[in-house]
Amino acid sequence: MSSIPPHHIPKPEAHQVPWGKYMISLYVGQKGPQPLGTVVFSEIEQKARKKLAAYPGAFLYAGGSAGTCQTEHANEAYLRSLRIIPRMLKPTNTRSLGTTLFGIRYPSPMLIAPIGVQGTFYEDGELAPARAAGKLGVPFVCSTASTRSIEQVAKANDEFANVVLKEGGQVDLEKGAAWNLSLIGAQPEGGALASRWYQLYWPIHNEVTSSLLSRARASGYTTLVITLDTMSLGWRPHDLERSYLPFGLGVGIEIGRSDPVFMSLHNRQPPKEDYVPKFPYLPQDLLSRAMGLAGTPEEHAQAKEDAYLGQAWLAESNSGTYRSWEDLDFILDEWKGPVVLKGIQSVRDAEKAAEVLMKDGREGGIVVSNHGGRQVDGAIPSILALQRILASKKVQAARNPPPGSNQKKFHVLFDSGIRTGSDILKAVMLGADAVLLGRPYVYASILAGQAGVEQVIQHILADLDVTMGLAGWDSLDEVRGKGLAGVLATSAGKSFGVDDGEEEVLIKVD
Ligand SMILES: Cc1cc2nc3c(=O)[nH]c(=O)nc-3n(C[C@H](O)[C@H](O)[C@H](O)COP(=O)(O)O)c2cc1C
Repeated sequence: MSSIPPHHIPKPEAHQVPWGKYMISLYVGQKGPQPLGTVVFSEIEQKARKKLAAYPGAFLYAGGSAGTCQTEHANEAYLRSLRIIPRMLKPTNTRSLGTTLFGIRYPSPMLIAPIGVQGTFYEDGELAPARAAGKLGVPFVCSTASTRSIEQVAKANDEFANVVLKEGGQVDLEKGAAWNLSLIGAQPEGGALASRWYQLYWPIHNEVTSSLLSRARASGYTTLVITLDTMSLGWRPHDLERSYLPFGLGVGIEIGRSDPVFMSLHNRQPPKEDYVPKFPYLPQDLLSRAMGLAGTPEEHAQAKEDAYLGQAWLAESNSGTYRSWEDLDFILDEWKGPVVLKGIQSVRDAEKAAEVLMKDGREGGIVVSNHGGRQVDGAIPSILALQRILASKKVQAARNPPPGSNQKKFHVLFDSGIRTGSDILKAVMLGADAVLLGRPYVYASILAGQAGVEQVIQHILADLDVTMGLAGWDSLDEVRGKGLAGVLATSAGKSFGVDDGEEEVLIKVD
């Protein structure tokens, strides 16, 4: 058998991760995927529901959505209606999922979405996915509603970020390798090794906002994500039926509790030791203790204090106060790094974001997201919002690197509905720079903590690598945006690519 001519094998880029090898390891290992036992999203979800059967409120907080859940379901359904057209006899032997965001080259287009109150799902809370993400070179986005402090999450995120490079500059995944910011010359404050971003729920008081941002900066978070779609909680029937709101009893408020400025507004100081909420979260017990109906005097005092701080932090960071574009100026003055607005669904808002965020030569971006359908029931499917936004001439112009530079200044990220590798490929084919993974990692963490999250990241990226090769593409950079024209045309009922010779990549089917 003759070997493939060398000119058909592109040189691997530095730090390239052969994600697809994970698939081979599953066949060779003869044990199936561990620790979850499955790579199928719906099965992982069912297993997680079963594991938390004694605490249905906790599972439904993650699994439930706003209203009738129609937007959550539409997110996945619209993704399914986009179909890839694979091309043959393209030697896609060496592939790269490498992705550049704000000047940093990552080994994949995946980020771990900000998800709050994770201490109600798994005893290590946000620390488990932060460790997994740091280990695999996937940026971790820390939520303001975390059950661990900004500093604790940063520490966990760096714990496994010990890069082991193979010959030729490849990251050795089998040895537990990762991405390491110090190796690529990025030098965030706090000597961060892994890449992490901070997600802000916008506080009422500017001095609290300043304090959170300076803590995030000092702990090595490079990019600020401001979530705009949750100035108040959505209408969530599953939580309403159970009066399920962990924040109100002081769970999911550790970023507030550890903040000196927020605490001083309430004549308090942050606890000297890291405060870790108890797992499992038992709302009835906490409520009885807070009301003095159960527990020791110390437990009563602690539960009462937790409930006081919980309600104060809710009033601070999810106050129901809606903001304006002008209000962003304060944050843009405070945070000198890239700012990304999360929750953008309209073309006009995306255009406005590009204008506001790129003022004075800044870098910025948006996450096209409907919060997994948890906020506005009946909102547009997120991938349809992405398609419409990327079709805007103004957004396209904003995404071109400025004259004389090859670095893009405005990034468009996507979430809400990513479950598989082909979901990611479709979003990139439309033009997304990167995607955020949400519920799949939460369910994996419920089942098996850090190891579960590692499996999900690896199996989704292996699926993406394998699917991209089979579809005829070497790299995400090569295919990014090439599917938009086909989807726009076929959405309008045209027979795109059949007689007009256009490059067929992605189409929409009914
Ligand atoms: C349980 C849960 C908690 C979440 N908490 C936050 C949060 O604290 N901050 C935030 O910006 N988004 C939050 N989100 C939204 C996610 O960041 C992301 O947009 C969403 O999970 C994407 O939808 P998907 O998981 O269905 O793909 C949360 C989502 C879930 C499921």
